[in-house]
Amino acid sequence: MDDNAAKIAIASDHAGLDLKEKIVKLLRELGRPVADFGTHNHDSVDYPDYGIQVARAVSEGKNERGILICGTGIGMSIVANKFPGVRAALCYDPFTAKVSRLHNDANILVLGERVLEEKTALEIVRLWLSTGFDGGRHARRLAKIEEIEKAERRTKE
Ligand code: RB5
Repeated sequence: MDDNAAKIAIASDHAGLDLKEKIVKLLRELGRPVADFGTHNHDSVDYPDYGIQVARAVSEGKNERGILICGTGIGMSIVANKFPGVRAALCYDPFTAKVSRLHNDANILVLGERVLEEKTALEIVRLWLSTGFDGGRHARRLAKIEEIEKAERRTKE
């Protein structure tokens, strides 16, 4: 993996900014390089404008993994999962964080600042980054998702 791909791409809207800043700090403490796509202040912004940047970077392989934060995590999930190859997981506790990696090989973690305690959110990030993909039957299922993406692309051509 090249140096840029190893960077964790991260972005939030205004409703996820405070948690984003805490996560960026944690990532730096963990020695994980970060590509921060904003937002950088509390002015009201539209989450698709920020979600698209991380989702596109992961979809195109510029960054292997990303993290998106909005108020609930729902808007960012909807945006991110529009992109081919993106497997964005809205996680709300350590269990879903772990299983999103083990079973779904999630490449974008989505969090809702308004629905999570800070301590839980940071625990989710740590677990999500340190858990690998289990492969096996789960790889077969992911291959089916890839097939769906390809078939949808073909029907639109
Ligand atoms: C912003 O008010 C809020 O709608 C947004 O952060 C997010 O929760 C959308 O899903």
